[in-house]
Parts: sequence; structure tokens; C-alpha cells
Amino acid sequence: MTDTLTPIRPGTLIINGEAVDAASGRTFTTMNPATEEPLVAVAEAGAEDVDRAVKAARAAFESGPWPKMKPAERQKALFRLGDLILAHGDELARLETLDNGKPIFESRQIDVPMVANCFHYFAGWATKLAGETLPVNPAFFTYTLREPLGVVGAIIPWNFPMIMVGWKAAPALAAGNCVILKPAELTPLTAIRIAELALEAGLPAGVFNVLPGKGSVAGEAMVRHPGVDKITFTGSTEVGRHIMKTAADTLKKVTLELGGKSPNIVFADADLDQAVRGAMNGIFYGKGEVCAAGSRLLVESSVHDEFVGRLAERAQKIQPADPLDPKSRLGALVSQAQMEKVLGYVETGTKEGATLVAGGRRQPVNGKGWFVQATVLDRVENTMRVAQEEIFGPVLSVIRFDDVEDAVRKANDIVYGLAAGVWTRDVKKAHAVARRLQAGTVWINAYNFYDAAMPFGGTKASGFGRDLGPESLREYSQVKSVWVSIE
Ligand code: NAI
Ligand code: MG
Repeated sequence: MTDTLTPIRPGTLIINGEAVDAASGRTFTTMNPATEEPLVAVAEAGAEDVDRAVKAARAAFESGPWPKMKPAERQKALFRLGDLILAHGDELARLETLDNGKPIFESRQIDVPMVANCFHYFAGWATKLAGETLPVNPAFFTYTLREPLGVVGAIIPWNFPMIMVGWKAAPALAAGNCVILKPAELTPLTAIRIAELALEAGLPAGVFNVLPGKGSVAGEAMVRHPGVDKITFTGSTEVGRHIMKTAADTLKKVTLELGGKSPNIVFADADLDQAVRGAMNGIFYGKGEVCAAGSRLLVESSVHDEFVGRLAERAQKIQPADPLDPKSRLGALVSQAQMEKVLGYVETGTKEGATLVAGGRRQPVNGKGWFVQATVLDRVENTMRVAQEEIFGPVLSVIRFDDVEDAVRKANDIVYGLAAGVWTRDVKKAHAVARRLQAGTVWINAYNFYDAAMPFGGTKASGFGRDLGPESLREYSQVKSVWVSIE
């Protein structure tokens, strides 16, 4: 399907309410993963631009209209931004699909509503964040104020370029902060567009700034800058670890949402039709480039052969297709490097002794694109690299287990702790296993559900802190205790 709609505008930085070029004049090119062709040039922020953005955000936080606005006015502006995102849904979805390679069905039906959901939900919190009066001593009136942190730096990945804007910026802004967001260099376009819509919605200049650019340059400068009070990051565990060390110099607060290798556990007493669909959705949604992907499928031995047979048959039917085709359910991986990494893991898996039962190869669409088939590796042992390392692509590793103890042991025997799935008709087993899993999210008879009202984040090497839900507001605010002598 050829794309003949309006041309895409070159990307700019958004600093202090204005679309500007980088101080250096540098640009980089963002690519369309489905065609391997350049999409458009984007301004590339350097350290000087980070400094400009920090000055703008600090001024907006300290002396601009933002802190003087009534919470109800901030609420209205954020709610309007949610509305504008919905009103521009077709445009945003198309940009996201062209830049990232994900199916337009996902961008339009899942990503756009989710970003809007974040701004609508957190808008409501702007008027509900409150301190407490505390009974301490009759001689004092004692209370707490819940205050914003100041300037929040958000560094986000390429797998959910616009959803991550909602996850990070919406709660930070609702709590009264100003934000500088650095999108991933592979997918900068939707964040820039949302920052423009934020101005239209009435967010004052400098409150929400966007700096496309390299992680090692613009990202690094944000983490080092003394004018940034907090870094909220989603991305690889390796970069998360580096950010945490670097942030120590200026004692920045950090929230890290990192990698995963989440177990999706199918017990023999599950509704197997439902579980097959859940296993597929768990790994093939978002091309498997999903931090919470159910990439380790644990199947009880007694149903293993039947289950894997059904799964392989269905996986072979999912064909990579043009992401702009509304029927496409498997898009292109984000970059050639990511595709090569994923295919490399398929090879590693078979060398380690796993059996390839579906997919496993690159499959260009119309002769082009970084598409990889829906892939299932069976006979995986939990100690293999394809069981322990994040592949971040449409590759499922299937591992057998014998009973509840074996399932829980294998599920937790990993450095990560982001999410998990449990499939069973036994209510007691479902809840008991959910308690024992080391994960920030557990889905029972479901997988890959998200909502702005539900906290999301990890434990162990998957990081700490929470996005979304009331929990996330604690990540973007702090408490001040006030003592008033009344005697
Ligand atoms: P990455 O962790 O390098 O990128 C995430 C963000 O961090 C990007 O905006 C990047 O520009 C920024 N960044 C990179 N280096 C930085 C630095 N020194 N200081 C500040 N910011 C920096 O992830 P990458 O290289 O794109 O993907 C590599 C692997 O990481 C993937 O194959 C996947 O396994 C994992 N990953 C996990 C994600 C998750 O949601 N958990 C998301 C993206 C990648
Ligand atoms: Mg791109």
C-alpha cells in the first residue's frame, strides 16, 4: 500500500514554546522501517540545546504562569491535550506507524487512545493532589504540602514513542512540574507533534519541551545537568544502570523502567483456546518489541505437545504485512540492527538445542523492510540464552514445567521482574501463584493490558519506581512538613 498523504514536516526541537533548530544546525534522518527509506530530517539536540531547554523549563517552573495557575486550570489544559490527541488520532497514528514500523491497527486503536487516556486521567489528579493535617502537638498546627519536584527529564525508547509521552509527561505535568523529554533517535516524530498540540491546549511556553537527539549526547547532557531535578527513564537495563550512576553526581532522583523476560505460565487446567490467544498476543503484539512481552512461555508438561502444536500452527498464519494496511498485525522491526539482533538470537537458540517450530526468518514485504516472521522456539531450557536474555522481537521461547513449584521456580529464576501471565481455571492457584511471582504486574487469564489508572513498573533488574496510576504521582512530587506554633 503506497502512502500518498500529506508530506511529513521536518522535525524540530520544541524549546520554550517554539519550534527551533539545534544550536549547531545539526540534523539526523529518521527512517521508515517498512521501506528502509528515509522519512524526514530532524533537528539533533546537543548539550547547548539541553542547556537552553533547562533554562526555559526552570524559568517556566519558577516564574512563569504554570505555578500561578489554579490546579483546575492546569487540569483543563491537560484534559484539552487529551482531546486534541484524539482529534489528531489519524495523523498521530500514521506518523507513529511510518516512524516505528508498527501496524496502523495498533497505532490507531491502541496507542492513540492510550496517550489520550493518560492526559485525561492525570488531568483529574491536578486538582486532587493534597497534603495532610497531622495531629502532632496541641501547641502546633502541623501539616504537609505536596509539591512538584521542578524540572523532570524524561528519556524514552522507540517501541512506544507516543504512549511513553503520556506515561511520563502526563503525571509529571499534573503534579506541577515542567518537563524536558528526549524521544528515541529512531522515532522522534510523534513526541514533537504532541508538544505542539500541548501549546495549542494552553500549556504555557517552557512547560513541555522536546529534544530529539542522541542518547549519548542529549540524553547524557540531561542526566548531568544540575538544573534537572529528576530523570524518568524507560529503556535497556544497561543504559538504566549508567543513568543511575551518572545521576548520583547531582543527586537526581531516578525512576527506571528497564528490560524484561516475562514468564507467561499456562497450566493444564486453563481454557487452552484462550491461553493460545493470550500466548500469541503476549509475544506478537508490538512485534514483540515490548518490555513486558510474555517472551518465556512456560507450559505444563501434560498439555505441552498439544499446546505448542496449536501455537505453531497459528503463528505460521500471521504474516508480516505493510504496517499501513489496516489488516496488518505484524509490522517491521524498528531498525536493521534490531532485526539482526533478533535473527541472531534465533540462531543462538537453535545452536543451544531449541527446536524452531514456526518462523525464524526475515520476510520482506514488497521486497523491502525489516520484517521478521512470527517465531516460536520449542524445547528451550530456562538456562539457555534465549530464555534468559531480552530478545525484543517476535520470538517466543517455550519451556516445559511439571507442577506449580516447578513453574514458580522457573518463572522467578531470571534477573528480570517486570510482568507475568498465569492461565488457569483454578481461582486459588491463580491468586497463590500471582503472590509468589517476582513481577511488577501479573495478568491472570489475560496478557498485555494497560491503563493510565493502573501502576506499571518492575522489580530486580527491571528497575524501580512506577509509571501510571496514583503511585506515579509520588515519583513526581515531594512532601514538605510545616510546623506552626499556635501558643
Ligand atoms: P536504549 O536503552 O539505548 O535507548 C532508550 C533511550 O535511552 C533512548 O532515548 C536513547 O537515546 C537513550 N539513551 C541511550 N544512551 C543514553 C545515555 N548514555 N544517557 C542518556 N540516555 C541514553 O535502548 P536501544 O539501544 O534503543 O535498544 C537496545 C535494547 O534495549 C533493545 O534491543 C531492547 O532489548 C532494550 N530496550 C528495552 C526497552 C524497554 O522498554 N524495556 C525499550 C527499548 C530498548
Ligand atoms: Mg524511524
